[in-house]
Amino acid sequence: MKVLVISDVHSNVWALREVLRAEQGFDLLVCAGDYVDYGIAPKETIALARSVPGAVLVQGNHDKLLTEIYDSGEYRTKKGHDFKWSHDNCLKMDGEDIEFLRALPIHQSFEADGVRYLVQHQYKSDYSTVECRFLFDQFWAEHAPAAPDGVRRCMIFGHSHRQAVHWLSGDRLWLNPGSVSYRRPDDPEKTAQYAVIENGEISLRQVPYDASAQLAAAKEYLAKDAMMETELQDFFFFFGNAKTSRDPLVRKESSK
Ligand SMILES: [Fe+2]
Repeated sequence: MKVLVISDVHSNVWALREVLRAEQGFDLLVCAGDYVDYGIAPKETIALARSVPGAVLVQGNHDKLLTEIYDSGEYRTKKGHDFKWSHDNCLKMDGEDIEFLRALPIHQSFEADGVRYLVQHQYKSDYSTVECRFLFDQFWAEHAPAAPDGVRRCMIFGHSHRQAVHWLSGDRLWLNPGSVSYRRPDDPEKTAQYAVIENGEISLRQVPYDASAQLAAAKEYLAKDAMMETELQDFFFFFGNAKTSRDPLVRKESSK
């Protein structure tokens, strides 16, 4: 069985399409949350995730945040340097998209090829990870059915955008597929990251994709001076050639 594990797509439908194309023929799609925010195509991203039959999907913190912003209506009044990608996304989504995000479960469990899996966007409210067997067993007992002794258990987390496999014992591990869309400010890699599990064997993968539409949208907001500076700086780093996520903005020609 081929399980495609993704997370943190963040409204980047171009990266998601590339991952699905690269791994076509998978049997099960698993997404550890954060479908929206910090990208420009929330509606298309949600539609694509929803189009995969039987997918195991959970809610991310940005998914929840956007339902709250949408409900508050505040995105309609934000302008200029108060305007963020979350507001941009809310303007592009409708009630059905929001209800999809709202209804996503916090955690899900499933079995594939004799391995038990527990999927949740994040372990705690911060970026901490499961560092010992005691905490692994405790978290498992709280969120997933008990597994017989000797059966491998694998937790799948997103949130950190850090691709990793972390073994705690011969039959306990957690996996983070990385972000389909973007890295963190200390990691300049520009690929879409994800994982594939085939017959229980995990492979961490990366695929290049075309980020030009994301970059063009940031340039447009910059030209209109219509978005918060740090949100634009992040975009020029994640999707353009800025050396850091706090490079000064080049306002005249938006040439980065
Ligand atoms: Fe995220």
